[in-house]
Amino acid sequence: MATTPPSPLPHLPLGELEGVDEATWLDVIQKMDEVYSKLVSDEVELEEKNAQLEQSQQFIFSLLSAMSDVLIACNQEGVIEETNAALCELVGQTEEALRGSPVLSLLADEQSVQRWRLAMYHSASREGTVVEINLRGADGQVVAVDLNCTPRHNSAGRQVGRVLVGRPLGELKRAYHQLREAHDALKLAQQQLLHSEKMASLGRLVAGVAHELNNPISFVLGNVHVLQRYGTRLGRYLEALHELELPPEMQALRADLRIDRLLKDLPSLMEGTLEGAQRTTDIVNGLKRFSTAGHEEVTQVEINAVVDRAILWVRKGTAPGFDIRWSRSPNCFVTGNAGQLLQVMMNLIQNAYDAANTEREQAPQLDISLQCDQRNVHLRFADNGPGISQDHLSRIFDPFFTTKSVGKGTGLGLSISYGIVEQHGGALSVENLPQGGACFMLSLPLPAR
Ligand SMILES: Nc1ncnc2c1ncn2[C@@H]1O[C@H](COP(=O)(O)OP(=O)(O)OP(=O)(O)O)[C@@H](O)[C@H]1O
Ligand SMILES: [Mg+2]
Repeated sequence: MATTPPSPLPHLPLGELEGVDEATWLDVIQKMDEVYSKLVSDEVELEEKNAQLEQSQQFIFSLLSAMSDVLIACNQEGVIEETNAALCELVGQTEEALRGSPVLSLLADEQSVQRWRLAMYHSASREGTVVEINLRGADGQVVAVDLNCTPRHNSAGRQVGRVLVGRPLGELKRAYHQLREAHDALKLAQQQLLHSEKMASLGRLVAGVAHELNNPISFVLGNVHVLQRYGTRLGRYLEALHELELPPEMQALRADLRIDRLLKDLPSLMEGTLEGAQRTTDIVNGLKRFSTAGHEEVTQVEINAVVDRAILWVRKGTAPGFDIRWSRSPNCFVTGNAGQLLQVMMNLIQNAYDAANTEREQAPQLDISLQCDQRNVHLRFADNGPGISQDHLSRIFDPFFTTKSVGKGTGLGLSISYGIVEQHGGALSVENLPQGGACFMLSLPLPAR
């Protein structure tokens, strides 16, 4: 601010100066000098304060404009004293129009009026009351807003009104929804990571066990075959010997050692041993298939045909009347081994039948569907069985996990299937259906074009 400095010595008519001595004059001049310099320093201070005030005003204005949350500062009567751009945009009014108008005039319904009054009342004594109210939006629509209402005090500490800060609930809900989705995706990724880590370490363990068992079991099996042949020959020889007239001590030894009973039992003992050895070999082969990449022949395999064959074989086996609805998708080729893929499909279909074929009124049913997108083939096997209990879900692909009785299931079917699908670059997963029943989802990559 430009100022004109006052003249240090005002011009006085000579007549009025008569009778004033020189010392008094000097005193007056000195006082006037002091007053003048005080005036100048006050002026400078005032200008500095003015500049600071302008700066803080500008700062507050920029804060208010940049805030994405709506802000209302009102007095004790609920009359708006200050607001920001976010509220102006939300209600479609200018700051000038809003200043001086009651908050009540922005509310969309009677319920919001009641809530607003309660919030004004409670926030007088409590810090931060949260209130959800409906405002009349710019386009005439009702906008639900979550406002935090806190008391406002003046420099003397007296309560002079309220400050309300908040944002439209739609935005909050959207943000919450996004957060939940991100959280769910993260949890799923973590589960998948844990699962694939578990399957990888199981694969290594199983590969080691299968490797160690492979040699002993193959010579047990080989030797049992030879023993069976030897047993048959020895039996024939002893039978021929018994036709002859043997000395009494030999007859006694025959009775004592119960040779006749032994000869009778021998074939079934050998058969049982052979069957056990054969089953052990099958298990070891299954374990090897679960854990090793396998060197099976790889061709272009048409998936519809594989599913057709799997249905045929399961029906020919234990499930002749199994009601299967099968929705195909023509010409779905993947690169892989037809035999292994058939094994996967057969196990999924057989499992569905075993699960659904219980003493219930409903006959077993299975819906199989095939779909191809740009990159993958997707197969779904949805049955009407009892589904899979929560604590079984995490173990269902583990080797030897079975709920079937001894001799009916080895618990290797799904673990081998999982290994085969992984070797084909695909994925096998399971979920329970809302209407009941289990749904296995199998995806396999389409050949690169
Ligand atoms: N569709 C399904 N519905 C309900 N439970 C299922 C289903 N498929 C598999 N299961 C459960 O998963 C277990 C493991 O299945 P998996 O195919 O690995 O072995 P299995 O069928 O028991 O024996 P195997 O296949 O070796 O004859 C089954 O015993 C059963 O409890
Ligand atoms: Mg099975």
